[in-house]
Amino acid sequence: MEVVICRDADEVGRVAADRMVSYLEGLDTPVLGLATGSSPLALYRELAARVEAGVIDLSHALAFALDEYVGVPLEHPESYASVIRRTVVEPLKMDPARVRVPDGLADDLAAAADEYDAAIEALGGVDVQVLGVGSNGHIGFNEPFSSFSSRTRVKTLMQQTREDNARFFDSVDEVPQHCVTQGLGTIMDSHVALLVASGEGKADAVAAMVEGCVSAQWPASILQFHPRAVIIIDEAAASKL
Ligand code: GLP
Repeated sequence: MEVVICRDADEVGRVAADRMVSYLEGLDTPVLGLATGSSPLALYRELAARVEAGVIDLSHALAFALDEYVGVPLEHPESYASVIRRTVVEPLKMDPARVRVPDGLADDLAAAADEYDAAIEALGGVDVQVLGVGSNGHIGFNEPFSSFSSRTRVKTLMQQTREDNARFFDSVDEVPQHCVTQGLGTIMDSHVALLVASGEGKADAVAAMVEGCVSAQWPASILQFHPRAVIIIDEAAASKL
């Protein structure tokens, strides 16, 4: 694990964007793994500036989002399909037809999840997987005690995660109970895992991920086994290291 400690969230975004550009350089068809949440927003903003400046062109890149809520209409502003379109696809001038988000509305959710996972596996994993971390150590929506070898599937959200995400909805009751998420095994197939975190609220999860025992209690700790995990965090998120 490489841990880079930055002054604040803006610097996390700049450093992560520089890394991203260098990891993707020279790839004919870059394959990105995309996270939602507030953590990667500074990274996406910085990447958009580099796209504007012509430093990087992602118009031909492929991308797979980490997760999606079950049962939230695509046009809902907080469906992850909407969030990815608004925060990544449009600002980074990506081709929407080449960006996939798990299907949380399929009649057969399990079959749709299997097909999604197979599409990632067929590419040999994504080139760079952007990750945030939940306050309980989840990555994607792999809540504590998710299997380390899990693939894309339906999961039940923990109350803590629903409360953390209630800020995006009118109330916690509106936060869905279920989601579809790439598994920890799917995430571990990425060539580079680039995790960004900022703020004191992430300090316990960051400490467990970087310095704790590898344990299903803190799913992000599996990244200690990733051949190329890069953790870019601000001083507040690093405060318990
Ligand atoms: C969300 C997402 C994760 C994200 C995490 C942290 O629920 N499913 O992909 O990394 O929780 O969110 P945030 O960055 O807003 O703190």
